Amino acid sequence: MGQATGACVLTVDEAKKVDLADYALVGLGSGIFFSSHHPALLRFARDGNSLPRKAFLFSTAGLPFLHGIWHRALRKIVEKNQMTIVGEACYPGWDTVGPLRWFGGIQRGHPNANDIEHARQFACRMAASLHAQSNTQ
Ligand SMILES: Cc1cc2nc3c(=O)[nH]c(=O)nc-3n(C[C@H](O)[C@H](O)[C@H](O)COP(=O)(O)O)c2cc1C
Repeated sequence: MGQATGACVLTVDEAKKVDLADYALVGLGSGIFFSSHHPALLRFARDGNSLPRKAFLFSTAGLPFLHGIWHRALRKIVEKNQMTIVGEACYPGWDTVGPLRWFGGIQRGHPNANDIEHARQFACRMAASLHAQSNTQ
């Protein structure tokens, strides 16, 4: 995503040291762990760090088609922060949690080149929507 758009890619710890309010858009994402994004990302979004007005959410998950549920906790926090969500995406990630490990897990080999290409295109759409909006203002 960073390569495709030229955007900065930061870990949560790095992002804590940056005033993200200076940016127009932030993408918030991680793997899904027990039905929501990584707790460190949820804490970061919740703890009132300065964030842009617009965000997109992304993740990898064993069951990506359930992303409406997996993104719920982060979506709630972001909306509580009065931020606008401009898009969401979830890609398959190899999942060997619990009993899944007994048969090699699900989504083995993911995210693959095809998933990464979809993520690149999604990130470009997010960036382009921002430019389109700023051109009309
Ligand atoms: C402890 C644990 C819990 C997980 N819980 C879920 C889950 O609730 N739903 C899901 O679809 N995938 C779940 N997964 C699969 C991960 O979301 C998937 O492997 C993801 O790609 C991990 O991101 P990472 O590669 O950045 O660590 C879980 C994986 C682990 C290790």
